[in-house]
Amino acid sequence: MVRIAMAVLAAAMFGFAIPASAQTAPTAAKDAPAAAAKSEAKAPPKAKDRCQDGEPSEVATYKISKGETLEKAINEPLDGKTGDADKGLGWMAHRRLGNCLACHKISKVLAMAEKTPSIKVTALNGKTSSMPLGIHGEIGPPLDGVANRYTEGELRMLVVDPKTAFPDTIMPAFHKNSGFTRVHPDCQGLAIFNAQQVEDVVAFLKTLK
Ligand code: HEC
Repeated sequence: MVRIAMAVLAAAMFGFAIPASAQTAPTAAKDAPAAAAKSEAKAPPKAKDRCQDGEPSEVATYKISKGETLEKAINEPLDGKTGDADKGLGWMAHRRLGNCLACHKISKVLAMAEKTPSIKVTALNGKTSSMPLGIHGEIGPPLDGVANRYTEGELRMLVVDPKTAFPDTIMPAFHKNSGFTRVHPDCQGLAIFNAQQVEDVVAFLKTLK
């Protein structure tokens, strides 16, 4: 009982939730299922909710050509799709999708954020979220002027799989669904972006001159 009282006190002090089953020890066996059900209701989100933005399982087949600055480029749009730059910015700002702004500063987007602090993004599953535009990390190089440094085909290659250019990079491959190790079972076989999303992001990157 003393231990439970201390746990309740600690919970009050530090503001964490303690499972219902720890608060009142079930007195009779018949109470146990009810207590279990209660603690389940408070449990953290299940693992199956990890991939909840409609992540695609298909990746396009593409032809790799020789780039100008980089060794490799994908010169043809994936699946022949036409990109939409505004949507591309949304995918880039989305915390669970591109999350590019976590690593890359983009002056143009910082300037936009002064007027429009966040962007509404509707993920592939139809769920709409509001994502901040004004918080940028500096783990990667700023993307200012990236369209002057690389061809469209090189930018596409970098979004699809940056390890083809920078083998040790921490930047994720956004259109790849195999060859990874220790992927969470719920996310196995999924890519982050589908072909259309890659084209949308490439369309936005092309505006960075
Ligand atoms: C976890 C951090 C991280 C994330 C997230 C990330 N990148 Fe990168 N990116 C990097 C790093 C680091 C480099 C530099 C290459 C290297 O590792 O040597 C880079 C390089 C690049 C380059 C080449 C820049 C140059 O001037 O050479 C482009 C273009 C790029 N990233 C685009 C993106 C886009 C678009 C997204 C989101 C869809 C993104 N990155 C997400 C870390 C990240």
